[in-house]
Amino acid sequence: MKRSKRIEALDQRAVNKDGFIDEWPEMGFIAMKSPYDPKPSITVENGVITELDGKKRADFDFLDQFIADYTIRTDRAVESMAIPSLTIARKIVDIETPRSEILRIISGITPAKMAEVINELNVVEMMMGMQKMRARRVPGNQAHITNLKDDPVQIAADAAEGALRGFSEEETTTGVARYAPFNAIALLIGSQVGRRGVLTQCAVEEAVELELGIRGLTTYAETLSVYGTEKVFVDGDDTPYSKTFLNSAYASRGLKVRFSSGSGSEVLMGSTERKSLLYLECRCLYVTKGAGSQGIQNGSVSCIGVTAGVPAGIREVIGENLVAALLGLECASSNDQSFSHSDMRRTARTMLQFMPGTDFIFSGYAAEPNYDNMFAGSNFDAEDFDDYNVLQRDMQVDGGLRPVTEEEVIRVRREAGKAVQAVFKYLGLTEVTDEQVEAVTYAHGSHDTLTRDVASDLMAADDLMKRGITGVDVVRALAESGYEELAENILSMLKQRVIGDYMHTAAILDDQFQVMSGVNTPNDYLGPGTGYRVDGKRWEEIKAIPHRINVNDF
Ligand code: 5AD
Ligand code: CA
Repeated sequence: MKRSKRIEALDQRAVNKDGFIDEWPEMGFIAMKSPYDPKPSITVENGVITELDGKKRADFDFLDQFIADYTIRTDRAVESMAIPSLTIARKIVDIETPRSEILRIISGITPAKMAEVINELNVVEMMMGMQKMRARRVPGNQAHITNLKDDPVQIAADAAEGALRGFSEEETTTGVARYAPFNAIALLIGSQVGRRGVLTQCAVEEAVELELGIRGLTTYAETLSVYGTEKVFVDGDDTPYSKTFLNSAYASRGLKVRFSSGSGSEVLMGSTERKSLLYLECRCLYVTKGAGSQGIQNGSVSCIGVTAGVPAGIREVIGENLVAALLGLECASSNDQSFSHSDMRRTARTMLQFMPGTDFIFSGYAAEPNYDNMFAGSNFDAEDFDDYNVLQRDMQVDGGLRPVTEEEVIRVRREAGKAVQAVFKYLGLTEVTDEQVEAVTYAHGSHDTLTRDVASDLMAADDLMKRGITGVDVVRALAESGYEELAENILSMLKQRVIGDYMHTAAILDDQFQVMSGVNTPNDYLGPGTGYRVDGKRWEEIKAIPHRINVNDF
């Protein structure tokens, strides 16, 4: 066939490298409404749910049973289920209906009813809903801090820079699993150099992650994954009950935790029971709520390739974020995995969370170049910082970040590298040379840094675990190496788990270690003139991007 030059040009566009698929409910490729999704229903007898969304108690799988026993408020179910889904959807958008009333109604509805409610909303209405239902008054942001070499010096420097740029939480993981304790310590130190009060986590194998948390080498945990079908849960050797137990293990040591879920995982793991992405994700979120978790990281997360491939997939993503908020959960709303070759498309996808604001707009913005992102690449990375700052300025929207100066970036990166050098020396770990610190200070990513002796690092990391090194040892190492203030800051982070307030829904810490959560600073949006508005000092900060004509120069 003779080709059209117009079509050939379009074929070359980035968006046409993305994967798309028709709706195919039998295999789970259906965003919001599968012909096989159940119809909403509930029967409560003597305070026990004996029938849920068309299934009798005798036929419940363990998700149904868990949700029936722990999530749905039986005292509110009859009243809430009697309200038409369209009426609930309208109340979610209605600026006269406060968040508290929505939470009360939602606490009595079933997962199928929830899916029906969400299906009544278009994306703008979902954003309206999120603006009102987000738990914390002020939105926040989370960074991924990783690199190809698991270089602890770079982790500390990137963490310091990320904290300076405004992230409230920073998450690392490893390339090589045995590096976990090094990454955790480097992140803990670097974060507090950049801004006091930033929370840190190290996402690794569950037992190791818990141990790092208990030792005070991390300050929160996030990746307690839940799934929407029994088969997928069991394939991962888990149940809603085992996840609840793990949640309690963290809570018993005063650590902030959120669960992880997101549409598409059941498709990838081959067991969707022909249900829609949205309905299955509703089940995940109901399990999360029933387990007593304060929050969730959701929005397809690592499975965004599936969800973004189907019609209305990106609408489903903001839909599932909204379901989390409707259940009163903190929502760290994904945007944390690259899914599109198109800059236009990846930006558009993020606007759905950016504009209304969520508790964490990204549950992992790559604060390093994407080639260093060990979570397989995020939707935005370190090369997008200025674009993001301009988007905040253009729309007067608080996306959780702020412009910085080159001088500040260099200063905190060097200080973080030096602090890690001192701690490694004091604790008798591997050597960090001055040249390494210098290279990392000015580096864009790990292509610009020096090589480390991996074998020695891994031996020292194993040894560190055997010796029982804890957060208190890190504090002591800093204090006795001339870093008293930094030692004090890390000690303050450890004290948080004794105070416990940062376990409240959507809690973050300011630079005075004061908690801001959905409990003490709740979202009070009720239409124009209410809620959080970008103004005052924060607006001055957002306006002052480096690449502007500064009228004070004239
Ligand atoms: N469902 C459940 N857990 C997920 N994670 C990422 N995407 C999903 C999802 N759709 C969790 C996994 C992964 C980590 C990055 O987050 O635990 O390892
Ligand atoms: Ca994350």
